[in-house]
Amino acid sequence: MERRVALVTGGIGGLGTEICRQLAQAGRTVIAVDLAARSERVAAFREETADFGAAIAFEPADVSDFDGCQHLIARIEQQHGQVDILVNAAGITRDASLRKMTPQQWHELMRVNLDGVFNMCRNVVEGMTARGFGRIVNISSVNGQTGQFGQTNYSAAKAAVHGFSMALARETARKGVTVNTVSPGYCDTPMVAAVSAEIRAGIIAGIPVGRLGSPSDIARAVVFLSADDAGYITGANLPVNGGYFMSF
Ligand SMILES: NC(=O)c1ccc[n+]([C@@H]2O[C@H](COP(=O)([O-])OP(=O)(O)OC[C@H]3O[C@@H](n4cnc5c(N)ncnc54)[C@H](O)[C@@H]3O)[C@@H](O)[C@H]2O)c1
Repeated sequence: MERRVALVTGGIGGLGTEICRQLAQAGRTVIAVDLAARSERVAAFREETADFGAAIAFEPADVSDFDGCQHLIARIEQQHGQVDILVNAAGITRDASLRKMTPQQWHELMRVNLDGVFNMCRNVVEGMTARGFGRIVNISSVNGQTGQFGQTNYSAAKAAVHGFSMALARETARKGVTVNTVSPGYCDTPMVAAVSAEIRAGIIAGIPVGRLGSPSDIARAVVFLSADDAGYITGANLPVNGGYFMSF
């Protein structure tokens, strides 16, 4: 069988890099998509993924730009083939309590964390349904499930990503395309490393498993949901949070 093509947005980020590595390990041809502006990080990414050679490529794009996403997909299809697996992991934070949050902080975040998911899904979904196979995994967050102080924008976008995924899952279910979310808890990435040691210790104390999540914990869930034989799981949210928030 031909190698399936997987596209990972935010692909050179803390979680994205490991998602790319594990998808390549699972036999996918992987395209990491991220901002061109992060050129210093691209060089580090190439080193971190060098063991996979040409199985992991990098394509610059801004997911908040619809036309840019359309061109990106056309370029990838020409160079690598049709996109079979889409992982939306690009994300930003613009934290502030609501009474201090500016419209700019609200809109910037929505453009990346929510519009970005629309822009990418909209440009791959027709190809996937036409071919009768597709796997879409959108990275949400535990903070979309629980809400978080200073994150009305982030929590709203991440909850919306799951609503979007359930709706799209219904639209594509009969065409062999599944759409799911993965909701990470607190992970050991630069996003969380930026908080003070005291807050970090407090976070860890509240996690039943007793540690932060690793990028590999999250990537494992993405590989599971994007497997060829995962076709009966759709519209689901897979929490990967060490028991920090339990629900059903
Ligand atoms: N790290 C955590 O603890 C955690 C927890 C829950 C959810 N998440 C979510 O997981 C995803 C990955 O987070 P991470 O920890 O790897 O963060 P990260 O900052 O390391 O990676 C995010 C990546 O997205 C890229 N990006 C930002 N704006 C973009 C744009 N407009 N177009 C293309 N790429 C863009 C960044 O350049 C970066 O490489 C995010 O959606 C985040 O909200 C992370």
